[in-house]
Amino acid sequence: MQTIRRVADLRTAIAAYRADGDDIALVPTMGALHAGHMALVAEAKLAAKRVVVSIFVNPKQFGANEDLSRYPRKEMADSRILAEAGVDVLWMPGVDEMYPDGFATNISVSGVSDGLDGAARPGHFDGVATVVAKLFNQVRPDTALFGEKDFQQLAVVRRMVADLDFGIDVRGVPTQRDDDGLALSSRNAYLVAEDRAKAVALPRALGVAATTIEKGGDAGEALATARDTLTAAGFTVDYVELVDAETLGVSASDRARRLLAAARIGGTRLIDNVPVNEQG
Ligand code: PAF
Repeated sequence: MQTIRRVADLRTAIAAYRADGDDIALVPTMGALHAGHMALVAEAKLAAKRVVVSIFVNPKQFGANEDLSRYPRKEMADSRILAEAGVDVLWMPGVDEMYPDGFATNISVSGVSDGLDGAARPGHFDGVATVVAKLFNQVRPDTALFGEKDFQQLAVVRRMVADLDFGIDVRGVPTQRDDDGLALSSRNAYLVAEDRAKAVALPRALGVAATTIEKGGDAGEALATARDTLTAAGFTVDYVELVDAETLGVSASDRARRLLAAARIGGTRLIDNVPVNEQG
């Protein structure tokens, strides 16, 4: 595996793959890799001859009071895991390489970015879209893989790729979960044992609400019950919402729907989502 930190060196490596006729899959990450990321790498290896994984903790997607400075950084361990998995390139630019002096561009994807985490974390999806656009232009992959755990992020990236004609096949990979159902996330490392035990209430509350709605129960009541269950379990709820799976706007039962939630426990903000299948 080549570890590359400069755009110019990345271009040379990518050009060599293209000269050999190899296709390329990109897995964008912020590091602190877990089995969820490795599921993306496994899919990437099936999708293309060459796999590039980026690790960049993107300051533009963290709000002023968020966890940028304490976000877990595990460069050595991540690098070893990726080499063992047969990744071709680890793309690991520094902040100055990604955002040199004078950097002034912002990509804002309206609509799909507006609600849910977009409302709770102003500017977050601009930061995500801007860095993902840069990563796409740096690597020029054929395919890019993102986890469904960050469902709104996936929708934002899909919208941007369609709107800006990136010509990249964006694939969502199902959420990987611990044995008790908690979605894998680098931020789970912040949970103390007591909060980790309580955190399972999040996937359970979503599962119960989804089943209720699928069986024809009242969606408003199901969402309210999920919020109450989470509050009783010790969470502070940001949102529990049923939305259209593509636009993330108002849901209609004849279109794919998704149930999304964000809630804090012990100072750690967790997100999760599940599909809501057709009634009947
Ligand atoms: O999902 C993440 O890890 C990040 O939001 C991403 C897509 C790598 C952009 O910084």
